[in-house]
Amino acid sequence: MSSPVLLITRRLPEAVMARAARDYTPRDNEADRAWSADELVERARGCDAILCAPGDPLGADAIERLPGSVRAIATFSVGYEHVDVRAAGARGIAVFNTPGVLTDATAEIALLLMLGAARRAWEGQSMLRAGRWDGWRPTQLLGRTLAGKRLGIVGLGRIGRAVAARARPFGLEVHYHGRRRLPSKLEDGASWHETAGDLLAISDVLSLHCPATPETHHLLDATRIERLPADAIVINTARGAVVDDDALIAALRSRRIAAAGLDVYEGEPDLDPRYLELDNAYLLPHLGSATIETRNAMGFLALDNLDAFFAGAEPPARVV
Ligand code: DGY
Repeated sequence: MSSPVLLITRRLPEAVMARAARDYTPRDNEADRAWSADELVERARGCDAILCAPGDPLGADAIERLPGSVRAIATFSVGYEHVDVRAAGARGIAVFNTPGVLTDATAEIALLLMLGAARRAWEGQSMLRAGRWDGWRPTQLLGRTLAGKRLGIVGLGRIGRAVAARARPFGLEVHYHGRRRLPSKLEDGASWHETAGDLLAISDVLSLHCPATPETHHLLDATRIERLPADAIVINTARGAVVDDDALIAALRSRRIAAAGLDVYEGEPDLDPRYLELDNAYLLPHLGSATIETRNAMGFLALDNLDAFFAGAEPPARVV
């Protein structure tokens, strides 16, 4: 029996591609260029499944136009806002994601952003590399100490909890907001706040770890930013759409808040160019899960999902 034809929309790590080639008939994207919805639909002709990635345009319109041969979509990510799961469900197309395997890597990036933003690491690097460092000075690039501050986490799921576990040894006191209060074992001493606004009011450092949904769209807007303590630091490793860029940029410009550490952007890779002009914005290009170990694990989990699906078994991470 011939192996299922798998459309792989982006270049994946070598070990993942090798396994895909062993078990599937892959059709890959050698140029590793982001495809438009039309291209994706066209290339899916004759395919049994699609292995896609964040940013791929699999909205309702594209899903409705996919050929009938496509039975499953496995995304190489935990976030799946780029796939219209309702449209997929309506067509009987299964959707899978990769939860769990990128928790540590994403939590590490959140800590990097916290430290980088609090300690003005980008400004220091730029000064040094531009040959502008004229020696140690008592008032040079003074940042903020994290120890003793309150860390507010929006969304104490897997990644939020991994961030909390890493932040505690730095001396941060952990608070959180989520739709429901968690059992105390999962809270691990973190204080729950019933509303996002209440959490923000005490968050010296605010770290966002909620998915992008209609409910969390622009959750951090001008009104909520006004509730943050003076000199707060905002960290986003979740999704750009959770933040209202106009409001955050205005708060960074006016120094209403001290700094932001961002790994994700609304409309990425076309982030709002005004961020690039702000020396109090510590910016990374969506590197949250970008470690060799993690990207391999994500690819293997995506393939585990497809293997189980085509074997008629229950895939480990099914969304619909
Ligand atoms: C995901 O898996 O959703 C991440 O954003 C990729 O880094």
